[in-house]
Amino acid sequence: MKRIGMLTSGGDCQGLNAALHGVAKALYEYYGEDNLQIYGITDGYRGLITGEYRLMSREDFSGILNLGGTILGTSRQPFKLMRVIDEKDSVDKVAAMKATYKKLKLDCLVILGGNGTHKTANLLREEGLNVVTLPKTIDNDVWGTDMTFGFQSAVDIAANVLDCIHTTATSHGRVFIVELMGHKAGWLTLHAGIAGGADVILIPEIPYTTESIVKTLKKRNRMGKRFSILAVAEGAISKEDAALSKKAYKAKLASSPYPSISYKLATELEALTGQEIRVTVPGHFQRGGSPCPYDRTLSTRFGAAAAQLVIEGKYGNMVALRNNEIVPVPLQEVAGKLKTVPTDSSIVRAARQIGVCFGD
Ligand code: F6P
Repeated sequence: MKRIGMLTSGGDCQGLNAALHGVAKALYEYYGEDNLQIYGITDGYRGLITGEYRLMSREDFSGILNLGGTILGTSRQPFKLMRVIDEKDSVDKVAAMKATYKKLKLDCLVILGGNGTHKTANLLREEGLNVVTLPKTIDNDVWGTDMTFGFQSAVDIAANVLDCIHTTATSHGRVFIVELMGHKAGWLTLHAGIAGGADVILIPEIPYTTESIVKTLKKRNRMGKRFSILAVAEGAISKEDAALSKKAYKAKLASSPYPSISYKLATELEALTGQEIRVTVPGHFQRGGSPCPYDRTLSTRFGAAAAQLVIEGKYGNMVALRNNEIVPVPLQEVAGKLKTVPTDSSIVRAARQIGVCFGD
């Protein structure tokens, strides 16, 4: 009997169920239903700590290929607290996770998650557990893979928001700021911004000045364009703030009267240009709903590849997309790294070539 645990951890995204479907179907096909037990761990690492899980059946994975969210549930379990013993109930989380793994007599734990999840997965590997992981997130910032699942679906949604904003911005001759997700990496804003025809794209990797943006808005006005669209990542940062220490910037954000960077920018731009500025924040909309066909396919490929690693006993790896092939990447290479947008990448250059302003 092969015994496999599966969990989804961190912020959800489109394609999680498609990936679970891919892993499970490939395993059932290989081992047969009588020789395989899959345990679904509830709400990510939390369920592994508290020992909440259920024995899944093949039927549980039917009809979920195009379903958003995750049938297992998820939660955020910050890595920095993983080794901290809770004072209240004195839970040693690492020992508790290992105990659940041992209790279930698992051969391997299949973990779906983003950056934080991968740090903990690597910790479990170091603790001697067999783990195989799949990279998910709308941020596309997991190191080692060209693409995470969830990203393209979020780009579709964000580009659609920009399309809709375009029509109303054109009618009213207004400047619109569309704030997109991504605190540390600007992939989503960059791709959606280009696809949605944004005039200004602000991402965390390229600090901006308001003067540069004002210059672009004025240039557009001189060209007879009454409206402008700014795609702004939630983690966009001004050159002035980028020069601050991490601690000082955190304190500045905490005392800011604005709910986010976009509202601050809107106030500044309104004062400097006299133009009417509106802010739209699609927020978690970007993570919701069905995965796009690209993500369904990528999740299925990742799922089948993860199952193959389990079958071959090649534990301690994340499945990754590289040059359109699925390859294993050792977890110790992935853990603790972040894949940000290279500022000299061809996609940034292409956007600049067509006149997109990055605020620098
Ligand atoms: O990591 C995915 C992500 O959607 C980020 O883009 C965003 O900053 C964050 O999660 C939001 O987190 P939460 O769902 O916990 O509010």
